Amino acid sequence: MYKAKAYSAASATSTLASTTITRRDPTEHDVQIDILFCGICHSDLHQVRNEWSGVMPTVYPCVPGHEIVGRVTNVGSAVGTFKPGELAAVGCMVDSDRTCSECQAGLEQFCPNMTLTYNFPDKHLGGVTYGGYSESIVVDERFVLRVPSNLNLAGVAPLLCAGITTYSPMRHWGVTKGKKVGVVGLGGLGHMAVKFAHALGAHVVVFTTSPNKKEDALRLGADEVVVSGHADEMKKQAGSFDFILDAVSADHDINAYLQLLRLDGTLTLVGAPERPLPVSAFHLILPRRSFAGSGIGGIQETQEMLDFCAEHGITADIERIGIQQIETAFERLLRSDVKYRFVIDMASLRAS
Ligand SMILES: NC(=O)c1ccc[n+]([C@@H]2O[C@H](COP(=O)([O-])OP(=O)(O)OC[C@H]3O[C@@H](n4cnc5c(N)ncnc54)[C@H](OP(=O)(O)O)[C@@H]3O)[C@@H](O)[C@H]2O)c1
Ligand SMILES: [Zn+2]
Ligand SMILES: [Zn+2]
Repeated sequence: MYKAKAYSAASATSTLASTTITRRDPTEHDVQIDILFCGICHSDLHQVRNEWSGVMPTVYPCVPGHEIVGRVTNVGSAVGTFKPGELAAVGCMVDSDRTCSECQAGLEQFCPNMTLTYNFPDKHLGGVTYGGYSESIVVDERFVLRVPSNLNLAGVAPLLCAGITTYSPMRHWGVTKGKKVGVVGLGGLGHMAVKFAHALGAHVVVFTTSPNKKEDALRLGADEVVVSGHADEMKKQAGSFDFILDAVSADHDINAYLQLLRLDGTLTLVGAPERPLPVSAFHLILPRRSFAGSGIGGIQETQEMLDFCAEHGITADIERIGIQQIETAFERLLRSDVKYRFVIDMASLRAS
């Protein structure tokens, strides 16, 4: 075991602070990675503040972070896929049982014995797993991704959660040329959804509560932008969408978007607000609409997404920060003021 610098929250109401955590020495299948960049997902904020207490209560101290890119420093004796000196990435999961039907189908994110990158029972050390707000991490090679060499590294980090969480449902629900696709909420996930839907050839409409994001939405690849508070603009879109991806982090009226689906259209939630969302039965019944959910993506699909990004030159639009600015970043996330993902430069942690 060895010590690593990290940032952790001590309780749901405390700010994140500098700490030291214990990591395992790499076992034969492990890859040890010096973390260079880690994205800040709104899930980190939900988890630190224990907003998902009913489903995934937070165990403190909590070290969040699941959008990790870095450089391999050491590998176990049986590791064949990575060598010291290479770039590597880790997303929301670090393990699964590899035997269940979900694992065999490449859907490790739905494995009943999956281990999330933080706040999940740690099979090796006991306690819970600690995430990427840290200078290094040790992960089984089967959960380590290969980083395309042609992309900006800091902009790659958010692909590991925001990227795969929006790419996977678009592939699953068949977003292609000729489809009309809505994206609700232009934050970290939403801005990646716009880039993917555009790259897949769809007609993309962004729904935002922030009129000042209109120009950005068009630049990111939207064909139209609707300010969701404008009733007449919303009305014009009624009954016209094949697919809508909802990436909103807080309470909002889901029925306003169900009404925009055409026959057999699907509204998929990836946003995970703290409280339940009321759904009107008739907005589903007529005309035969589906209301669905989606969680991150499997390991093979995450690699496929990274390769798709390499081919299409896609990375996240980021604001690079030092780890000391984490609380300001959290506050700005709560105000929907992010352009469009905060990424921590881990040099700031090493220097502290
Ligand atoms: N399913 C999964 O596997 C998965 C994976 C990662 C994250 N998530 C969840 O997805 C959600 C979004 O994450 P993120 O990191 O993209 O968050 P984010 O960067 O904070 O973006 C959320 C966006 O939602 C909109 N919004 C915020 N409050 C709103 C409100 N009260 N009413 C309407 N719109 C509002 C804002 O966009 P506008 O300014 O454009 O309105 C905001 O920028 C979070 O709940 C997160 O936990 C789920
Ligand atoms: Zn995330
Ligand atoms: Zn499994």
